[in-house]
Amino acid sequence: MAVDHASRLQYLEAMGIQVWESRQPSPASAATASVTVDNDHHQDLWHTLQQQVAGCHACALAETRTQTVFGVGNQQADWLLIGEAPGQNEDLQGEPFVGKAGQLLNEMLRAIGLSRQQVYIANMLKCRPPNNRDPLVAEVTACNAFLQQQIALIRPKIILAVGRIAAQNLLNTQQPLSRLRGIQHQLQGTPLVIVHHPAYLLRSLTEKAKAWEDLQFALHVYQSVTD
Ligand code: URA
Repeated sequence: MAVDHASRLQYLEAMGIQVWESRQPSPASAATASVTVDNDHHQDLWHTLQQQVAGCHACALAETRTQTVFGVGNQQADWLLIGEAPGQNEDLQGEPFVGKAGQLLNEMLRAIGLSRQQVYIANMLKCRPPNNRDPLVAEVTACNAFLQQQIALIRPKIILAVGRIAAQNLLNTQQPLSRLRGIQHQLQGTPLVIVHHPAYLLRSLTEKAKAWEDLQFALHVYQSVTD
């Protein structure tokens, strides 16, 4: 369900966070380390990560962005939504999914009984690609550690990959969306489900029906892992 313990420690260590733990942890000592990290340092870890993102110059998108777009929402959310990259509105406002697609995403969430405040919303890329072009592999690679750290800190019960580009990059596949949706995938040990991009809600009834099916499937997976 959540990111496994070893991966989580690895991401925290990559952030320069020292986690005190015996090399062969007993269940009790692992639990102690986990509680320490969760309770005492959670906010510090978020703050550090946010600062790292804000100051990032790992790829050329740093030259053209207005600002970085870190992510928004409940840091302890069960649901983590991961989109592709900020668009123009997101770049201007510094928050993911705030344009028209964002309003539709809010509607999609509402359809399954979730509010925007309940979930956490992030993108694979923290900076807008010029003219909203598709992310380059090098950009996804450069930004990936930030996303992995967000996953490690949130420890969601389910991840929704929003749209084809996010799905293909997160799952490292070129398979079309039609082959990827309706399946419970895994990302770092967390169930991952693909949902159509909210823009699909604006298209034909068939596309709308598919988006609705995706959401129902996501809810089903969530219920099966939390029951
Ligand atoms: N589309 C995305 O994938 N992410 C955003 O933040 C906005 C639109």
